[in-house]
Amino acid sequence: MNIVFLNGSYMPIDEAKISPLDRGFLFGDGIYELIPSYSGKMIGFKKHINRMNDGLKEIGIELNWRDEQWLSLCKNLITKNGTGNFGVYLHVSRGVDIKRFHAFPKDIKPTVFAMTVDIPASETPDLSSIKRYTLISSEDLRWQRCNIKSTSLLGNVLHFQEGHEAGCQEILLYNRNQELTEASSSNVFIVKNGVIATPIADNQILPGITRRLVIDILKSDGSFLVEERVITLDEVKNADEIWITSSSKGIAPVTVLDGNTVGTGKVGPIWLKAATLYDQKKYAE
Ligand code: PDD
Repeated sequence: MNIVFLNGSYMPIDEAKISPLDRGFLFGDGIYELIPSYSGKMIGFKKHINRMNDGLKEIGIELNWRDEQWLSLCKNLITKNGTGNFGVYLHVSRGVDIKRFHAFPKDIKPTVFAMTVDIPASETPDLSSIKRYTLISSEDLRWQRCNIKSTSLLGNVLHFQEGHEAGCQEILLYNRNQELTEASSSNVFIVKNGVIATPIADNQILPGITRRLVIDILKSDGSFLVEERVITLDEVKNADEIWITSSSKGIAPVTVLDGNTVGTGKVGPIWLKAATLYDQKKYAE
């Protein structure tokens, strides 16, 4: 039975009840996080909590939990659910109002919900067994504040569905200037002539924690140049390698984009080096 946390108590998921007047339900008015945890070890815990606090501040939700409170919540949930390979999902909405009204109500208590979701095991990177991704690309039709990890995910959901219906596992997005933003639930990296590049973390993308860890680990290793810059769709289409990163996938290689093979069509050597370094260093960062 999946044990979840709701407003101070742990309970089986089918006992967790939320009012329809919760602003998370009515407006998607909330912030969430997903922290990967393998056999009880979380990756980037502090960075995830910092991003959540930034999001809460950005949308004016006052919660003021200490990091230790989040840590013990995460650890309790992991233990209660059997210490597998989990994404620890944290969700804070503005809370329950007495009517449906857009403006922020005064003096309501945020709703805090958390659960674990299964994610694939973290495996030693391997060129032959790694899951390869097939993507299509599409114009990014989401809002201008994609840096906020908001629970209003309709824009992302519609894009993901577009990819899903095309038989793909993700969808790569570009803005109206034909510049790469991210994917519907992942960040994107490209490799060309041995140089690794990813878009700048501005309002057009979520500042992914995996993205940050990958950049930091690669920079401290020093074997490759890593650039955070504007990347055109044309560059993406001509890249030697494309990777997508997220907490549930780690660094995943894309071998087909819009029906065309990426680079040689095989998983690339720089992916192998980056994924191996990430695998070795991910808990240390
Ligand atoms: N998705 N961009 C978007 C739009 C995302 O939703 C995510 C994460 C990422 C990668 O961020 P991170 O490395 O911090 O997981 C980038 C999560 C996992 C989700 O919605 O389930």
